[in-house]
Amino acid sequence: MTAIRAAEPYDLSRLMAFDSFPGDRIAEIVERRMLVAEVDGVIAGYIAWQTGGCIGMDYVNKLVVDPDYRRHGIAQSLIAELNSILNGRVFISTGADNSAAIGLLRLTNWQPAGQIVGLRPADEPEIFYYRDL
Ligand SMILES: CC(C)(COP(=O)(O)OP(=O)(O)OC[C@H]1O[C@@H](n2cnc3c(N)ncnc32)[C@H](O)[C@@H]1OP(=O)(O)O)[C@@H](O)C(=O)NCCC(=O)NCCS
Repeated sequence: MTAIRAAEPYDLSRLMAFDSFPGDRIAEIVERRMLVAEVDGVIAGYIAWQTGGCIGMDYVNKLVVDPDYRRHGIAQSLIAELNSILNGRVFISTGADNSAAIGLLRLTNWQPAGQIVGLRPADEPEIFYYRDL
């Protein structure tokens, strides 16, 4: 069973075992900008956001599921829980080559908002999406 809750400092070491983003997640946890998904008591994924991080709109800047737990609906559950935390227009983005993320965002009804070239190496466009929560 998957349970979604706010991240706590004691989650940090488990998060770092599968995190694919550089640095650590201390700021997100301390500032209460992160949710984790627990499967049978094991943290299997997380979502984090920057309040006002996209020209004043909230921006989901991290969403990662442990490779051992993918394709079990965990990212969908994390996105669904955003509804109870954030309000208004929320943005998210991913590289154009990330078919998993693009499939997820289509399935969960994010609207395409355009792309920016020059943010990523090798000129891979970054595609932005939004949802009104
Ligand atoms: C993208 C990611 C978060 C998806 O997590 P997940 O828990 O496996 O996703 P879900 O199981 O909720 O998948 C929901 C839907 O997304 C799509 N999807 C997920 N992974 C996919 C893949 N590898 N290929 C194609 N579509 C995929 C499918 O439509 C899927 O529904 P289905 O399994 O019924 O076909 C995960 O692959 C990940 O952590 N990737 C690395 C970090 C990253 O790219 N983050 C995205 C930031 S926007």
